[in-house]
Amino acid sequence: MDGDGAIDPWSSEGDTNYSRIVNKFGLQKVDPSLLPNPGLLHRRGIVFAHRDLDVAVRCIRDGSPLGVLTGLMPSGGMHLGHSMVIEQVKWFQQQGADVTVAVADLEALATRGISLSDGRRTAIEEYVLNYAALGLDPSNSSVYFQSARPDVQRLGFELGRRTNLSEFEAIYGFTGNTNLAHVQAPMVQVGDIVHPQLEDFGGLRPIVVPVGIDQDPHLRLTRDIVAKTHWFNINPRKSGGLTISLSIQDDNSKIFGVENGGRINREIRASIFQRVIEIVSTLGFADSIPNPKHGILEIPGATNSDKYSIRLRLLGLERELGGLGLMTPCSTYHRFAPGMTGGKMSSSKPESTIFMNDTIDTMSKKVKRAVSGGKSTVEEHRRMGGDCSKDVPFKYLEFFFEEDDTAIYDIKREYESGRMLAGEMKQLCIEKASEWLEEISEKREMWRDRIGEFLAPDSN
Ligand code: TRP
Repeated sequence: MDGDGAIDPWSSEGDTNYSRIVNKFGLQKVDPSLLPNPGLLHRRGIVFAHRDLDVAVRCIRDGSPLGVLTGLMPSGGMHLGHSMVIEQVKWFQQQGADVTVAVADLEALATRGISLSDGRRTAIEEYVLNYAALGLDPSNSSVYFQSARPDVQRLGFELGRRTNLSEFEAIYGFTGNTNLAHVQAPMVQVGDIVHPQLEDFGGLRPIVVPVGIDQDPHLRLTRDIVAKTHWFNINPRKSGGLTISLSIQDDNSKIFGVENGGRINREIRASIFQRVIEIVSTLGFADSIPNPKHGILEIPGATNSDKYSIRLRLLGLERELGGLGLMTPCSTYHRFAPGMTGGKMSSSKPESTIFMNDTIDTMSKKVKRAVSGGKSTVEEHRRMGGDCSKDVPFKYLEFFFEEDDTAIYDIKREYESGRMLAGEMKQLCIEKASEWLEEISEKREMWRDRIGEFLAPDSN
């Protein structure tokens, strides 16, 4: 499949031609200069793409509610690759977002045969403990288990009405042989992603989901489904401005004044329009052109950047009228750090990455054996310089261990000029990684008895 632009969320293979993925799936590129306090992963272009990140940034800037949600597959040990999502979650949390973490125990059962009790142990001892050690703040973080949260499963089931097997075949490549638990897993993930917007879990607000690019199929599915549930559509108006139109569906046609024969009840329709016009005018658009019969309201004075505030208010109205009123989720995508042995990082190949629990000794051995961008002889290296783009120890400093941008810049210059040798790069990586691992390990011990602070009440 490599190179054809397909993404399989359950495979460790896959496409890493990032610009092709961005184009094919219509992602937006991240511009770090537009972010408040950009983090390391943003500044270094590692978080490279997004969907609707501007919506989340807007919440950060005006201090309005924002949720961040991530999920973990409780299989194998936690390694550096997994820490990247947590760095992003932490960044959103520092900018004011509340945090929800889904333990994908149902998905691990469906796709890896991991029992719920094993999944639970792994989730807590391996993942949540390390999240705490990495600096996630428990005061507004909440970890739950898919198997223990009926609202997630109910939403997944309910929203299943908005998709079908053909879409699943197209997105995930499922076939007649795919077992049904596996077919259900993506719908549970849809439930994970949207449920923080339920009243019991924080209510209507944008939710941003930071993931590796392999998880984008789930976001495409969720966004697609959520858009289908909307009772009001907002589209560009042909001659400038925006158009709001009623999306008449089985569950709202009566409420929107459609009578049995298809006739429109003018009074009901007029009262709905009254509400919409009220919303539009409180947002500052004095002139709007209503056409209740066709279910359309034109707002010539609105621009695309008003879409978000109009959307949020209309979702509130949708909820009042009995709809789900869900915001489409936002997402960000990070590049994958290279595996130490050349291929990808994978839990099933321990030599391909550094685990949070690795001893300094194990880590050092891995770094010493890692793929290097150095030349084969010292003479050649001094003359031609090293290649940072292929050098795993350099990449790991850049992705994980060296926080100082100036230091990274200097290391790169030294290496590429040939002044710094491959062995010296490895040594530097080992030093920085040792500090990093030691700190994580100390913090793990600090948190070991306090993990309960991260767990949601329904996860006990
Ligand atoms: N499918 C994810 C994985 O393989 C885990 C997951 C479950 C998840 N629910 C989620 C990730 C919601 C992000 C958002 O790791």
